[in-house]
Amino acid sequence: MGAVDLKGLLAAGGDDHARWARTINPQFVRVLRTIGFDRTWSRADGAYLFDDDGNRYLDLLGGFGMYNVGRNNPRIRAALVEALELETPGSVQLGVTALPGLLAEALLERTPARLERVLFTSSGTEAVEAALKLGRAATKRTRVLSAESGFHGLTLGSLSANGNDVFTSRFQPLLPGFDRVPFGDLDALEQQLRNEDVALFLVEPIQGKGCTLPPPGYLEGAQALCRTYGTLFCVDEVQTGFGRTGKLFAFEHWGLEPDLVPIAKSLSGGYVPVGALMMSRAVHEAVYDSMEHAVSHGSTFAPNELAMAAGLATLHELDEQSLVEHTARLGEKLLRDTQPLVDEFKVVKDVRGLGLMWAIEFGEPDSGSVSWRLIERMQPGLFAQLVVAPLFSKHRILSQVAAHKLAVIKILPPLVVTDDDIDYFVDALTVTIKRAQRMPSSLTRFALTAAGVR
Ligand SMILES: Cc1ncc(COP(=O)(O)O)c(C=O)c1O
Repeated sequence: MGAVDLKGLLAAGGDDHARWARTINPQFVRVLRTIGFDRTWSRADGAYLFDDDGNRYLDLLGGFGMYNVGRNNPRIRAALVEALELETPGSVQLGVTALPGLLAEALLERTPARLERVLFTSSGTEAVEAALKLGRAATKRTRVLSAESGFHGLTLGSLSANGNDVFTSRFQPLLPGFDRVPFGDLDALEQQLRNEDVALFLVEPIQGKGCTLPPPGYLEGAQALCRTYGTLFCVDEVQTGFGRTGKLFAFEHWGLEPDLVPIAKSLSGGYVPVGALMMSRAVHEAVYDSMEHAVSHGSTFAPNELAMAAGLATLHELDEQSLVEHTARLGEKLLRDTQPLVDEFKVVKDVRGLGLMWAIEFGEPDSGSVSWRLIERMQPGLFAQLVVAPLFSKHRILSQVAAHKLAVIKILPPLVVTDDDIDYFVDALTVTIKRAQRMPSSLTRFALTAAGVR
């Protein structure tokens, strides 16, 4: 009797999509088939995915930002193997072990002095939930403010802070005490904070849905307002952390010193579910104020030792390979090389980004376009899908429409992409927009039929 024969199971094959549809989610498989993304994936390396015919795809999604150090990074894997071979104690529960403390120390060494404690979780949304709970308990206030169009995860607390109906409308009622203000509007924020009943203001430094950058002075102003009115300033770095924007954490761009910082995704190099809430000592001590309250929040699997080993390896890898600096440089190149598209194509309205978090926004040409209106009437954001689909099928580039009903394409590539990868993407994008802009007549016919016009 041996171990499970994974290699044999994988080699035996079968139809992954049919099995997934049968056992996990048939609607998701329908979506993949409709947009032509139903490839059978066999392996991955760095910024590349390979299908079962051996074709290489450039991955510009990076697992939604969890593979900053590249897929199957050999040095993260080696750390995991080493941790397994060391037969570390795992979770004692009523006891502590070495690895979580070492990772907490490594994180805090890299962040502003205001952050002094780490609470580990197993995902980004759990890190946000921890911020909500601890923020309320620490301030003895109940209200939570977040930004319109914000995204913080899909469990009920994080969802209550979500600023987008598409995610929230079917799951009402959400938690009481949550309100939203427009991203970038300091007056609206101050109006809400003035009553001094808001526990925390939860905000992404760059909004992930749509890749929206903060207006100059906004985040610094928000932090100052939070300090004035006794509200905790919580900067959600789940997507922007670990080098994504060309700094280890995005808040460094604006010299911020938040009270609460949820992190996750790339912390474990994409290998093991992980998240954490970094917080000020004041917050921690206000909640964990006695032995009775020594375990005020937590969950069975957190901290997980493999996640901790991978976390230490990931921080080491970011340093060793200078990936943060590499990202800053490539991000500037990507912006420089794509900004001319705004002048080149009437349908391109904006190109924006910071580091390797980048987006292109489409809109109806100023001169007006019947085809554009037909396409967008069928489904808002459809034009962006008309670019994403051929990028995938013709150029083997994996990208995505940034959010439901948005004519925006966003990319979050592994930070190990090269200059050549960026050149390849920019060339492919240019050719694809040119084609999509011409709106092939068959597509217009399809749009007319679907719109009931013909
Ligand atoms: C800014 C932000 N916060 C929180 C989350 C939730 O993280 P997770 O998917 O690990 O629960 C995400 C996920 O995309 C995110 O982008």
